[in-house]
Amino acid sequence: MKVLILGSGGREHALAWSMRRSPRVTEVVCAPGNGGIAQVARCVPVSLNDLGAMVHLAEAERPDLTIVGPELPLSLGIVDALQQRGFRVFGPTREAAMLETSKAFAKQFMKRNKIPTANYAVCSSAAELEKMIDRFHPPIVVKADGLAAGKGVIICSSRNTALEAAQGLFSGALLGSAEAQVVLEEFLEGEEVSFLCLSDGKSVVPLVPAQDHKRIGEGDTGPNTGGMGVYSTDSILEPHMTEWILHHIAEPTVRGMAEEGVPYLGVLYVGLMMTARGPEVLEYNARFGDPETQAILVRLESDLVDAIDACVDGTLADTELSWSPGASACVVASSGGYPGSYKTGFPISGLAAAAQVPGVQVFHAGTSARDGQIVTAGGRVLGVTAVEESLQQALNRAYQALGEVHFDGIYFRRDIGHRALKPKAQKEA
Ligand code: AMP
Ligand code: GLY
Repeated sequence: MKVLILGSGGREHALAWSMRRSPRVTEVVCAPGNGGIAQVARCVPVSLNDLGAMVHLAEAERPDLTIVGPELPLSLGIVDALQQRGFRVFGPTREAAMLETSKAFAKQFMKRNKIPTANYAVCSSAAELEKMIDRFHPPIVVKADGLAAGKGVIICSSRNTALEAAQGLFSGALLGSAEAQVVLEEFLEGEEVSFLCLSDGKSVVPLVPAQDHKRIGEGDTGPNTGGMGVYSTDSILEPHMTEWILHHIAEPTVRGMAEEGVPYLGVLYVGLMMTARGPEVLEYNARFGDPETQAILVRLESDLVDAIDACVDGTLADTELSWSPGASACVVASSGGYPGSYKTGFPISGLAAAAQVPGVQVFHAGTSARDGQIVTAGGRVLGVTAVEESLQQALNRAYQALGEVHFDGIYFRRDIGHRALKPKAQKEA
């Protein structure tokens, strides 16, 4: 089987690594890929912003299966375009991806389908927003409707700052382009969990849960990022809670989409807040999470290709996944300055020594190869990932491996997993 992966980050490196582990896969092509992916796949250039170029690439490569990594090509309709040309492709259509690409759509969908989520109001003008805002008590969450690369959510401590943030979204001052709709949301408190499932449009199979660390600073401080590290253990969710989330959130989502005539095929990433009144949906993503995928796939013992094939063929109901019982952790090393401005092109040393640490996989997020040397090429540079019997051991391995790695300005959080590792009494205090 020849597999084409679209994307260029740590998630796509982990996907390519998983594909290479399958005895069924003979060739992996990644577009555009990165310096690390090039060690496990053939990388070909393409712009993920250019639908025509991606279609042209598929027509030239004739893959047996295409996996779409990031949201941008989904939002452009890459799945629709490839399906129309007879390709087997894993990911939601443009309309189904609206669960991620329009927060207004997602909120209204959840309301129609009685899926637990924060109270909200969708506003189409500043005047409407000013009327609706009185229903919300600070802190008030203000969200851009469209894709915003993690920058579209503003948590406001007063009515006035919320009005200002909403103005900034409507005018385009905040994100660079004007939002037609802004969502006001009730502020939820609790632990966040990334609950990812596979779906063939009818059935749902959950992956192991993970917990991301979105803020740049230790102790969850500072600006939001794409994700600075993640861990996965079974104990993130009790088995009865996993069942509850499946029956009340994941399955109703897939059933609701099918009933509304927009079957959802692909990875359904449910971002949950575990609130005092139960799990509530913070957001949907229409794709694998990054860096969740790195920590999840190192625990997967089944063949990912079989599961993805079952999604594309509509036979997921017969699929069961097996997982390693322990824990995994992925610590992201970023360029100094990220998520603000940063420099790239710095040589990375110690990658071979890091890869020698038992249980460790070094996934590349933003690297490229230059004269036979791997150099930094993005904000998030590496996702050093380890799988072990316990979370503490996995973290020890990941940090041991990171200790081998160096590049100018390297930054990583030293407290990944801190919420899980806190003694229980302290957590409850
Ligand atoms: P989103 O892009 O919707 O996942 O939001 C990004 C981050 O903002 C989430 O991971 C949460 O940490 C935070 N967030 C979003 N919505 C809420 C909410 N209603 N209450 C509290 N925090 C939120
Ligand atoms: N790690 C968060 C995301 O993939 O959206």
